[in-house]
Amino acid sequence: MKTAPKSVPNSAVPRHVAIIMDGNGRWARRRGLARIHGHREGAESLRAVLRACRTTGVAYLTVYAFSSENWARPRDEVNALMSLLVRFLRREEKELHDNRVRLRHIGRLADLPKTVQRELNRVMAATAGYEEHQLVLALSYGGREEIVHAARRIAQRVKQGDLDPDAVDAAVVAQHLYAPDIPDPDLMIRTSGEMRISNFLLWQLSYSELYVTDTLWPDFREREFAAALEAYAGRHRRFGKVEERNPRRARRRGAADRP
Ligand code: IPE
Ligand code: IPE
Ligand code: MG
Repeated sequence: MKTAPKSVPNSAVPRHVAIIMDGNGRWARRRGLARIHGHREGAESLRAVLRACRTTGVAYLTVYAFSSENWARPRDEVNALMSLLVRFLRREEKELHDNRVRLRHIGRLADLPKTVQRELNRVMAATAGYEEHQLVLALSYGGREEIVHAARRIAQRVKQGDLDPDAVDAAVVAQHLYAPDIPDPDLMIRTSGEMRISNFLLWQLSYSELYVTDTLWPDFREREFAAALEAYAGRHRRFGKVEERNPRRARRRGAADRP
């Protein structure tokens, strides 16, 4: 792990950060520009945040780049987003290599235009050997679709006699999600102030810390990312348990409780 910014102790750095990159359209509208300018500037924020993940020691970054519902946007905007994506992949490839970042994808790859599929598959294959840092693009992604996809695969295995229905538990469901080896996000950031999940990682966010900022995604850079990490470092994650106020007493009691 690399060094964290001064204000965040290393132990409190999230291993996995997920981001709903929202507000590109509003950013452009406020400047009297077409929405695509907001998306272009948003791509710069993604570069900056990816870099910040490396310097702060965040291992996994999952970004919501295009939702299942975003297909309902005007065709021009969808096409422009797809071209931007191809350009992003081509431009970013060297930096991913130089920094040993593995590119991953979650969502329905087959829905995407062939050119996007080709670029994605190429860069994913080229970076498949890297482990330390991973960038996960959620593209044509929906949380419900992911759970449906898992349910279908589990049902197929049951039908084939490969799996006992009584053996289906949370761990089995999790194993059938798009990227089962990736740990759940510790921190989920949403930019531009909307207080909703918008069908993002419905299963995986069950115990993630949430951070919503009014900053629009194109304005979200290293400093804003550091602020989100700092907020995370101050959170108390209880996972449904009772928080121990005095860790020393907790340790003593823990020792006494043991048989
Ligand atoms: C997020 O910005 C990018 C995508 C959903 C692809 P928006 O395009 O949703 O921006 P707003 O919410 O309209 O401002
Ligand atoms: C969520 O943003 C999807 C992405 C950031 C890719 P949206 O702008 O599509 O979500 P809603 O419509 O505000 O819920
Ligand atoms: Mg939006």
